[in-house]
Order: sequence, then C-alpha cells, then structure tokens
Amino acid sequence: MTLQLTPYEQSLLAGDQGRAAQKALQILVALGTIYNAERLLPVASVQIAGVSYDNLGEAGLQWLSEMADGGGQAQTLATLNPAGMDIQNWPALGISPAFAANQQRVIDAFTRMGVVAACTCTPYLIGNLPRYGEHIAWAESSAVCYANSVIGARTNREGGPSALAAALTARTPAYGLHLEPNRRPSVTIVIEPSLGSALDFTALGKAIGQKLESAAPGLIPYLRGGLDPAEAGAASPASLEALKSFCASVATYAGLPLFHWEGLTPEAALYAPPADVLRVTADDLRLARAALSDARPDEIDFVSLGCPHLSIQEIARAAQLLRGKRVRKEFWLTTARPTKHIADQMGYTAIIEASGAKFAVDTCCVVAPIQGRFAALATDSAKACYYASSKNKFKTLLLTFDEVIQLAQETP
Ligand code: F3S
Repeated sequence: MTLQLTPYEQSLLAGDQGRAAQKALQILVALGTIYNAERLLPVASVQIAGVSYDNLGEAGLQWLSEMADGGGQAQTLATLNPAGMDIQNWPALGISPAFAANQQRVIDAFTRMGVVAACTCTPYLIGNLPRYGEHIAWAESSAVCYANSVIGARTNREGGPSALAAALTARTPAYGLHLEPNRRPSVTIVIEPSLGSALDFTALGKAIGQKLESAAPGLIPYLRGGLDPAEAGAASPASLEALKSFCASVATYAGLPLFHWEGLTPEAALYAPPADVLRVTADDLRLARAALSDARPDEIDFVSLGCPHLSIQEIARAAQLLRGKRVRKEFWLTTARPTKHIADQMGYTAIIEASGAKFAVDTCCVVAPIQGRFAALATDSAKACYYASSKNKFKTLLLTFDEVIQLAQETP
C-alpha cells in the first residue's frame, strides 16, 4: 500500500514551508509507511509528552532546538505533558537551579514553535478538549485512554517526535486507532463488584492488567457492570475524577489505549459484547489494591495527590479538608496552571498553602527529578504507585483521597 500525499503535504515534504516542517513530514511519512497507512489525516489537536528535562536530556533538547531554529510552527492546538518542575515556583519544590535552567530551555523551545506551554496530563480539563470522532495526536498514556474511550476521539499513543511532527503539520498517519475496525472490542470483561470511590476505579485498572497479562496483546476490552448508582450513593460512581484515575491505571497496568464500557462510553453502543469473557471479582479488586501498598503509614514521608492532574472539584475538596489544619509531611498537589488559577480565585490556594501543603503546578511526582529524596509515598493513584516504585524507588501506600489528606496531617 502506498501512502498518498495531498499537494499541501507534498509541498511540506519538498521543504516549501521550511526545514522543520519538512523534517516533521518525513517523520510522519516514515511512520505511515511502516504501518501501511494509505494517507495522512488532519488532526484537531495535539498533546506532546517527553517534556521533562529528566527524560529528554541534552540530546532531546538539542533536537527540539533544531526544530524551533528550523522555523517549526504549530499548525493546530498543541499542549504539553507535565514538565520536570513547577515553571514558576520550582525552588519551593527543591528543584536545583541547574535543572530549572535546562527545563526552561525545553519550555522556551516549545513556546518558540507556538506550542501552548500548558503542561498537563489532563488537557481535556483546560481547553484542549476534542470532540467525538475527531482525529487527534496525543502522547500521554492516561490522556490517550481518556480521549479514545471517554470522549470517543481517535488517537494512537504518539511518541515525543511523532507528536511534535503532528503539531507542526496538523497531520498524522491513518493507521491503528484512527481506523474503525481497530477500535472494535475483542474481549468482554464483567466487573462483578459495584464500584464506589475513585479508589475502586484505580484498583480496577490494575486488576484488569492482571486479567489481561496472559492474553494476546492489543485486545480492546468491552467492560460490563460495576456501575451501580445505588451502591455509590450518587448519580453515577463514574465521575470525571474516577474515570481519569481509571484511565491512568488501566493504561499503566494493561497498556490499554482504548476500552468500551457498556452504558458509559460513547462507542460501546456500537458493538455487541464479544463472546470471550473474563471476570473481575471483588477479591481481584481487593488483591489489586493490596498489591499497591508496601509501606506502613508511619513510614510515609511524602504525600501527593493529582495523578492525573487534579480537577477543580478535587482541589475544592482538599481545601475543605485542610481548612485550619497543618500538614506534617512534604505534600504536593499537582495540577495544571489554568486549574490553579481558578483555585487562586476561589480562595482554595490560600487555604491549602496555609496548611503547609504545596501546589506543584506543571509537573508531577513522577516526572520531577526526586529520586532518592523520599522513602515512601502515600497517594490515591495506582499509576503514581507504579512509577514511584519503579522509577523513584519509593515504597508506596494507596489510600482514598480523603485518607491521604488525613495521613498528611499525622506526625511522622
Ligand atoms: Fe500525569 Fe504524572 Fe500521573 S503525567 S498521569 S500526574 S504520572
């Protein structure tokens, strides 16, 4: 199959729009050729990962600078994944000046290319919100899962270079999850327990990862059950916050870029449940939750909420619980800068900071360079547990959102 290019794409490839756009199109053509794409698709939005200098290093930064020097300019809305530090308030997080200088060079390179330097893994909360059926090119695994599944937009999981290439051309190759046949579910997963708190959703991601461990890679699950509003004591247990946490967890532990959930996600209505059935029991959920904790409460010296980045509702809840209180451990609340601005206006920031807790805006406890600084992390996120343990070598304790805030107030 030969990749067909439009006259506009051919002119980019010929270098008519500058070196960076030419290089970007070359990347997309190479990718499209590998995956047998017939054409490139226009994309409505881009989200670029690999922003932390901790991950990029000097070689990555040099490549970004070359693309900026080559005249690269975003041709569609493009935002960034979390960086390695709070861009404005990095000294409060113990980031070194040397790291901060290099991280700022990364941000500057993106800004020169017209990429919006809003550094967040929840772009859908801050205005980078695609519509159902729209083609996009996103990179962060939890956001990819959310966009494909909860919104019904269409994206593969992009790498750093291919996402930047998409931003500079507003194109992506038509393969993988951009094509309807590849979005069809191939296995049914019945969720037997009724899910309650967001903690159940984050544990469910790990439980599904364990169920699919021995299955063929690339399965798209069709989920049934788990959503009993009466059990949750609310209209639906599947709140935005629960779903963003589930997407992060199921992308981490099962590698899923897409799931369908009967009665919940928009594309589920298009398909019948596949004949192959797996079951997640209450015991599976309990074991998954237990497996994410190897620290005792008295070992915790670091507390973090906001993986994925906090919504304004979660910040409001934190302010409610921290009003007039004092935290006694290093406590980061990670969120996007536009969300923090709303928190400032609502007075939540003042309440939270008066308690001694810190906002870690633009960054998170995984991409910040904090390896070796702490012994044990308490969090409400299964994804944060995975990377705290594997990347930063911390012990972990998985608790509910409210329990994390309670523990932060206890004397170490
Ligand atoms: Fe976001 Fe960092 Fe978690 S990028 S999903 S807060 S690991």
